[in-house]
Amino acid sequence: MHSPLIVDCDPGVDDAIALLLALAPAHPLPLLGITTVAGNVPLALTHRNARKICALAGKPETPVYAGCPRPLLRSLATAEEVHGATGLQGADLPKPVGTAPTQHAVDFLISQLLNAAEPITLAVLGPLTNIAVALIQSPQIAKNIKQLVIMGGARGQGNITPSAEFNIYVDPHAAHVVFTAGIPTVLFTLDTTHQVLTTPERLKRIQAIGNPVATAAAGMLAFYGQGDRNIYNLPGGPLHDPCVIAYLLNQDLFTTKQVPIAIETTGEQTIGRTVIDWYGEAPSTVQVADTVNAEGLYELLIDALASYS
Ligand code: BDR
Ligand code: CA
Repeated sequence: MHSPLIVDCDPGVDDAIALLLALAPAHPLPLLGITTVAGNVPLALTHRNARKICALAGKPETPVYAGCPRPLLRSLATAEEVHGATGLQGADLPKPVGTAPTQHAVDFLISQLLNAAEPITLAVLGPLTNIAVALIQSPQIAKNIKQLVIMGGARGQGNITPSAEFNIYVDPHAAHVVFTAGIPTVLFTLDTTHQVLTTPERLKRIQAIGNPVATAAAGMLAFYGQGDRNIYNLPGGPLHDPCVIAYLLNQDLFTTKQVPIAIETTGEQTIGRTVIDWYGEAPSTVQVADTVNAEGLYELLIDALASYS
């Protein structure tokens, strides 16, 4: 039995695949809504991209709330500036349907959490700005968050600087607020997501499904894979954000360890570093993912994409 869910995201191709996993008919999750934040691309694009994915998934009525257009303290450093990307390349996606809700994402998060009949899970796939602002504005929401399941950080090398992973680097101050709130959290760092590679063989299996959603997903993944393969010399692009949704669907795909974590917010070379004390014994509410059954995760994703008509 899944708890009610809100997905906070910044699509982004891997966010888009995560949303298609969350919206799939194969295993419907009780999704209350999607909130978007500036990250991979500016807010207007992440919001529009999330609505396009809902339309592609045949669920255009899914409410998508636009949130914070920039980090708490830093100026926005989007992947668009770094990679020249516009968000979702590689597929012809349908236009968003209808009109988007006008409520701010932070207000939506707070109202849902304050009025929750049961605790809500937050799946967080981008910079942590929306979640931090909600916690600052209304700290009492913390008790109604069942768990935060977050993609971000690195135990080893970062991907935007040698020290930092993109989501945490963009808004390290927000990450500090979130990771010091004492909320049960599961964190998927690059060390785990780089085990989940869209190899040519796996991409072919997705292409072979043949329905419009899977074809669009394959188009995006083919495009997305190229950049990471070149940079990291990997046999396929890492599927970061889908790890979060895969965990909600099947925790057994992963091993995790409960460890202390702190966010570096001041170091000139190290800002955005997730300082994870892998052998530490200090109390912590954070489980950091370690290993993943990548083959099982792709089976889950392929089943999900195949379940679209
Ligand atoms: C994270 O950064 C974004 O570019 C991806 O969508 C993912 O959430 C990986 O570092
Ligand atoms: Ca993301």
